Amino acid sequence: MLTCRSTRELQRFCAQGRLDRQTISLVPTMGYLHEGHLSLIREGRKKADLLVVSIYVNPLQFSPNEDLESYPSSPERDAVLCEEAGADVLFLPGHEDLYPTDYQTTVSIGTVADGLCGASRPGHFNGVCTVVLKLFNLVQPNVAIFGNKDYQQLQVIRTMTRDLNLDIAVIGMPIIRDPDGVALSSRNKNLSDRERTEALCLPESLALAEKLVLRGERDSASILNQVRAHIACRELAEIDYVTIVDPNTLEILSGNIHSDALVALAVRFGTTRLIDNRVLRLSHESTAGDNQGL
Ligand code: PAJ
Repeated sequence: MLTCRSTRELQRFCAQGRLDRQTISLVPTMGYLHEGHLSLIREGRKKADLLVVSIYVNPLQFSPNEDLESYPSSPERDAVLCEEAGADVLFLPGHEDLYPTDYQTTVSIGTVADGLCGASRPGHFNGVCTVVLKLFNLVQPNVAIFGNKDYQQLQVIRTMTRDLNLDIAVIGMPIIRDPDGVALSSRNKNLSDRERTEALCLPESLALAEKLVLRGERDSASILNQVRAHIACRELAEIDYVTIVDPNTLEILSGNIHSDALVALAVRFGTTRLIDNRVLRLSHESTAGDNQGL
């Protein structure tokens, strides 16, 4: 595995790959890798001749009051995991290289970024789009792989890719969870033992929403109330949002649900903010265990 620390070196390597008629897949991450990231990397390995993994904690997508400083990192361990999972290139850019002092261009994404996390993290998705577009330009991949865990991020990137005519297949992968159901996240490391125990209320409340729908409940307000009540039982949990949206447009679904819907939530435990989501399927008889393919 080649470790690239400069944009030039990465660009050259990828340009040569394309000249050699090799296809390229890209998996962008912020590091502190876990099985969720590794599932994307393994998929990337299957999808193209060359696999590029990037690790960069992108300051543009963090507000001043957020956890940029405490974002966990483990570069040596990450490099071993990337190599084991079959990466050809690990891109570890320096901040000055990606954003030199005279840097002045950002991507501005539209309404798909307005709700959900975009509402509580203003500017976040512009920061995500900017760094992802830079990575897309450097690597010019055929395929880019993202997780459904950051569902809105995936839709935002699909929208940017479509709107800016990028010839890149954006693939969404299932959420990988700990055995108790909590979605893997680099931020889980920052939870205390008690917070980690209480974080179980996220997958539990999503399962509750699914159960209600299976029993015939269609009123989104009623589902949301029960989901909120379940989370509110946990002393340390502070709800940022719980919403039911259209899985494609991310528009809020109020009133009765008539087709597949996404229940998405963000909950804070102290300074750590966790997100999770689940598709509530109306189009199939059973939704159980059938939530990963989106
Ligand atoms: P990061 O949080 O490191 O996530 C990198 C990728 O891993 C994202 O596509 C995310 O959805 C996916 N991922 C995280 N946890 C997952 C899980 N439990 N199961 C499946 N996939 C999971 O998302 C970012 O970084 C950044 O915003 C980035 C896109 C790299 C831009 O800076």
